[in-house]
Amino acid sequence: MMGMKFGAACSVGSVALAATLLATSAAPVRAMDGDPIAGQAIFQRTCVNCHSLDVGVNKVGPSLWHIVGRQPASVQGFDYSDAMRGNKTPWDAAALDSYLADPRGDVHGVKMFFKGLPDAHDRADVIAYLKTAR
Ligand code: HEC
Repeated sequence: MMGMKFGAACSVGSVALAATLLATSAAPVRAMDGDPIAGQAIFQRTCVNCHSLDVGVNKVGPSLWHIVGRQPASVQGFDYSDAMRGNKTPWDAAALDSYLADPRGDVHGVKMFFKGLPDAHDRADVIAYLKTAR
């Protein structure tokens, strides 16, 4: 009887410990990942006048379908600036983050007349949303 009680207390303890470990290891990942739902709202507010996420739909700016991971200036038929054509850094999350913080400062001479998203959380959210467009 004593043994059983001890055993039960012990397994409750290890479940709690496992939960604590999970929570601490998951927290930083969530902070960096951003929220695609919030990102969609930001996209609708600040990007959609110039960008579509649909394949082949170019507006003032090129279609952003499958933007995360692809090469800059790779949408067929869009008239990119020379600055963007010369940009060889693939659009991973880090490159998008620094571009969206200050588009015209990051890639000098780009055609995107947009002041950027100064808030790092907004950028993480938008990037999380862009990741869904593939
Ligand atoms: C005023 C119009 C405008 C707004 C607003 C705008 N963009 Fe752009 N965007 C452009 C143009 C024009 C280009 C092409 C730049 C060039 O060729 O120099 C571009 C290029 C880009 C590229 C590179 C595309 C490629 O194919 O390499 C990304 C990524 C991008 N924009 C993301 C965004 C996001 C995300 C937002 C909203 C937070 C946004 N843009 C808001 C006009 C805009």
